[in-house]
Amino acid sequence: MTRQMRWASLVSLGLAVAVGAVGCLGDNDSSDTTSTSIGAVSLGDALPGTNATTFAEAKANFGATETQADGLGPIFNERSCSACHSVGATGGAGQNVERRYGTLTNGVFNGLASTGGSLRQLFGIGGFNPSPGLNCQSGTDSNPAPGATIFAGRVTTPVVGAGLVELIPDSTILAIAAAQPAAIRGVANFDTIHLTDGPFVRGQRRVARFGWKAVHASVTDFAGDAYLNEMGITTTSCDRGSVVTDFATENRANRAATNAVINGCPDDLKPGVDDDFAEENNNCAGGLTAVQDDVANFAFFMRNSAAPPRAIDNSNGRGLTEFNREGCNGCHVTTTFTVTINGRSASFQPFSDFLTHDMGTLGDGIGNDGDSVATTRRMRTAPLWGLHFRNALLHDARTSDKATAIAAHAGGGNGQGSAAAAAFAAATSAQRSDLLLFLSSL
Ligand code: HEC
Ligand code: HEC
Repeated sequence: MTRQMRWASLVSLGLAVAVGAVGCLGDNDSSDTTSTSIGAVSLGDALPGTNATTFAEAKANFGATETQADGLGPIFNERSCSACHSVGATGGAGQNVERRYGTLTNGVFNGLASTGGSLRQLFGIGGFNPSPGLNCQSGTDSNPAPGATIFAGRVTTPVVGAGLVELIPDSTILAIAAAQPAAIRGVANFDTIHLTDGPFVRGQRRVARFGWKAVHASVTDFAGDAYLNEMGITTTSCDRGSVVTDFATENRANRAATNAVINGCPDDLKPGVDDDFAEENNNCAGGLTAVQDDVANFAFFMRNSAAPPRAIDNSNGRGLTEFNREGCNGCHVTTTFTVTINGRSASFQPFSDFLTHDMGTLGDGIGNDGDSVATTRRMRTAPLWGLHFRNALLHDARTSDKATAIAAHAGGGNGQGSAAAAAFAAATSAQRSDLLLFLSSL
């Protein structure tokens, strides 16, 4: 993005907060059941009470294509957030399957960070000339990565409704875990908030709930992470007068000897941090707390997008009964969560406990350095809201067929999903058909 556009967005963001606050006053008693009403909203729409202009600008930023001059690369996966998050609407799921890798060292997971793991960036900016006569190469992550023995695909998850999920109290998620039978009890992952934004403060410990493995607790943190790791755009932000550099270090192609920086070249066309927001703001002088403007816009868009709308349930309710009978609701809980957002109460049914479960061989085998093999098998219960907009199911998009996705819960027979898979296999064809019709309404 150009600097001018970013500042324009930032100014209007400030305005919108004020307008939104005033707008709520006359509207305090409204309650929006955002995920259960049919036809009330379209995929990717804003939550009620969101300033339309600010939302449109934030959404445009989410869709903006970045160039080398903006700091894209040196290695990257795509040029805009919406290049991946696009199925059904901007902010939807995607077809793009990312590549993760690692190995086991002394029986525990090793993400091979020294070779650029565990996320492999698929592209490099290639040759570039930071100054006359200086010929540089970004390089690319090699495939397969050196030393890797574990490989996994991760398809793009949707971000709509993420602001609702973000507000579910930790205590609610932990209570769900406590109530689960031991055989399917999930594990809450925790993350430390990186960027002070919205309702969160840097340093807070909070239940991580976003991503296939539940790695981040806030959409702003995910946005800073994605800007760096998907697009190669490094940023700094400000937190109560301190410079935040968590997303400020470029990834380098497999850190190989041909790596640009080793040959006297900068990382990419923009040496140092691509968008040094903190420096632009006098190193956060005056106790400033503010998130880099693009990241703030991405977060605003995601935080204010409505839950995906439901479709008609052609099983006439029988499918839900079957869903519960087969134990799907053990993890894909049917809980209607209620949070307050934009000064209004919003209820939604994401069909996830936001906990991670040992899925046996369905798990992707990727983790953090030092994780046991059992830990690497844990996956977040995939939220089933918006399922009728999706066409690539399970973490590696191995199928578009719901019955195949359910059968895969068997996980080699010893994962926490195996009993549900067995119940589905044992169901009559009428019961299965009802269940699948119900799933098509989500
Ligand atoms: C190259 C494709 C790609 C691009 C570009 C991309 N994403 Fe994603 N996004 C993904 C994938 C894949 C996942 C799932 C990642 C995982 O869990 O391993 C994801 C997950 C997310 C999630 C978590 C949603 C959830 O609940 O699981 C958020 C939030 C997100 N992305 C935001 C962004 C933002 C903001 C940008 C732009 C800065 C962006 N993404 C750019 C592919 C992409
Ligand atoms: C032990 C917890 C658990 C139970 C029980 C369970 N699931 Fe899942 N489900 C998951 C997890 C975890 C994933 C993500 C797995 C992956 O892709 O690695 C998932 C994924 C899915 C998906 C694919 C969603 C997507 O976004 O790709 C569908 C559909 C699904 N489950 C339906 C069901 C149905 C129907 C049942 C009951 C027969 C069921 N699940 C029982 C945990 C569970």
